Amino acid sequence: MQLSFSDTLDPREVAGRRIEELRRLLEHHNRLYYVLDAPQISDAEYDALFRELQGLEQHFPDLVTPESPTQRVGGAPLERFAPVTHRLPMLSLENAVNAAEIGEFDLRVKKVLGLSPDAVIDYVCEPKMDGLAVELVYENGGLSIASTRGDGVTGEDVTTNIRTIRALPLRLGGERVPRLLEVRGEVFLSLEAFQHINAEKEEQGEAPFANPRNAAAGSLRQLDPRVTARRPLSVFCYAPGLCEGAEFDSQQVFLHAAAGWGLPVNPLIRRVQGIEAAVAYYQEMQERRESLPYEIDGTVIKVDSFALQRELGEKSRSPRWAVACKFPPRQAVTVLEAIIPSVGRTGVITPVAQLRPVEISGVTVSRATLHNWDEIALKDIRVGDTVVVERAGDVIPAVVRVLMERRGADALPSQPPQVCPECGSPVVRIAEEVAVRCMGLACPPQIRESIRHFASRNAMDIEGLGEKFIEQLLTLGLVRSVADLYVLTRDDFMRFERMGDKLASNLLAAIESSKQRELGRFIFALGIRHVGERTAKSLAQAFGSLENLERATVEELVSIRDIGATVAQSICTFFGNRENSAVIRRMLDAGVAPAAEQKKVGGRFTGKSFVFTGTLTRFTREEARRLVENEGGHAVGSVSKKTDYVVAGEDAGSKLAKARELGVTVLEEDEFAGMLQGTDTPDSA
Ligand code: IVH
Repeated sequence: MQLSFSDTLDPREVAGRRIEELRRLLEHHNRLYYVLDAPQISDAEYDALFRELQGLEQHFPDLVTPESPTQRVGGAPLERFAPVTHRLPMLSLENAVNAAEIGEFDLRVKKVLGLSPDAVIDYVCEPKMDGLAVELVYENGGLSIASTRGDGVTGEDVTTNIRTIRALPLRLGGERVPRLLEVRGEVFLSLEAFQHINAEKEEQGEAPFANPRNAAAGSLRQLDPRVTARRPLSVFCYAPGLCEGAEFDSQQVFLHAAAGWGLPVNPLIRRVQGIEAAVAYYQEMQERRESLPYEIDGTVIKVDSFALQRELGEKSRSPRWAVACKFPPRQAVTVLEAIIPSVGRTGVITPVAQLRPVEISGVTVSRATLHNWDEIALKDIRVGDTVVVERAGDVIPAVVRVLMERRGADALPSQPPQVCPECGSPVVRIAEEVAVRCMGLACPPQIRESIRHFASRNAMDIEGLGEKFIEQLLTLGLVRSVADLYVLTRDDFMRFERMGDKLASNLLAAIESSKQRELGRFIFALGIRHVGERTAKSLAQAFGSLENLERATVEELVSIRDIGATVAQSICTFFGNRENSAVIRRMLDAGVAPAAEQKKVGGRFTGKSFVFTGTLTRFTREEARRLVENEGGHAVGSVSKKTDYVVAGEDAGSKLAKARELGVTVLEEDEFAGMLQGTDTPDSA
């Protein structure tokens, strides 16, 4: 849609309507991206909408409202957080630690309700998010106050920071939005975000966070909202507080209504009948815990019916209708036996703690990261110390702290190495980085790690190419970079110890099939610093091809959602490095052909073909093509009867004439842009 200012239309009114529409669209896409993990538009399109909104708001500043997506990060740093008294106290939960204790909770519930022990209660089972509890207050649909739990009665006003959470609507949508809705939930950080933040902290010489919960708390309780805005906090809502203008009969109904208003609700929540099913849920989640992208520390079982909840009531600090079923702790105490410098993929030498083996929730831990030597000094960690070790999901276990009271007289402080422990090259400490780095280009562990990463499941997924074989490839001098993998022959593999014909064939086939991996995996596999899986995927979607990404400038990169200056710079540095380019070229020459990201099924342009002709002013041809592809369509070079649309820019020539001749729909550039923004559909165009 184009804004047309005629005598009868008040420009302010027109702009106002478009502003409303843009806000709705942006929040809709925020939800798809941050809550449902199912984006429907590319970052470029999102940014175009965002910029359009910013432009209109600049023009009509009085139309800016606090709920506008442009206002998520606002204001200068605070001096302190103001206290907020919760209208209803935020209770905590009683714990159960095993099936027997969960059974006791069920019996207590039935006893208070005067039911027989074999009555079947409906429960809602939820993951217990390991973050920090907040209360969000929506008045007349708009987010007015957000506060931390604090002591349960009084918390801190963290509204400015909560507003930066893009998974959270600033205004409730949907039907029958209540006048007042207080809703409680848990703010958390994904494991990926946690690792990313820690990597960044380490690079900047700051102490890393011990676990995702501390990182989430530290990020939310930041006096400078701009810092919080850079931390991708998330939230799941799980309980109502006060509510006026809507009633719910049960937890299930409440959660359903909350999701309907656009609030993020954990999709793993399930209603079950009877306590056995709730125990089964607890066990299931304990198994799934490792594969979740965030930390949970148990499950919560809640009596579903609000009538029964009221009847059950509460004790001084916790309700009788719910129980927190805790998983075994992920921390353990053990002895630090040695500090071993370990060389990583990028040459960074990380101090690794060798521990007296200790079991942490079913996994034996004998190594943990100590992050960097500054951190060791800061926490005064010494060999021989008794330490607390913590693990979370797939994240490498970390040494959290020293039990000073148990320190022996012989515990020795340790120093960073002067030379690389693997190749003897000199070690440097780059200014402004805490990392100690080996500068040896042929440093074996760097090569080994880069190949291991390249072949790993979430990267190129070369089945069977595990550590043992990689080690042999290196020992036999068969690979020096990942590109060498693609020229290996059967004879090469046959030189391995204990190698058979079949195994060699399987390995060759696995390498062969990896040539066609999606572009996102390939980008991730390259091991560019700061580019994790999700970033790699975003890059693949935004650029569509490796060539485009290689050519991208820092400015283009930072215009993509979630890519900041550090990441953008790192990508440019990577592709600017001649050796890296050579490795990539060799792979492409050997037939590696990263497949462009899968076209979106059900996109706006699914199955439609486009021809671009003339000079476009709003997009480059390449961008236009990408936008069409992102929506499931395709761009072709010449006009035929089968062409669905011809987009004609300025000075369009013969293709335009041909389109007219064949009766193909011709779009002006603005109309095409309108279709992309969802104000128009292909069929109404
Ligand atoms: S319900 C009165 N549901 O656990 C009930 N709490 O130990 C209030 N938590 O302070 C809490 N996930 O921070 C509830 N799905 C969930 C939860 C959850 C995490 C936390 C919350 C609370 C603590 C209670």
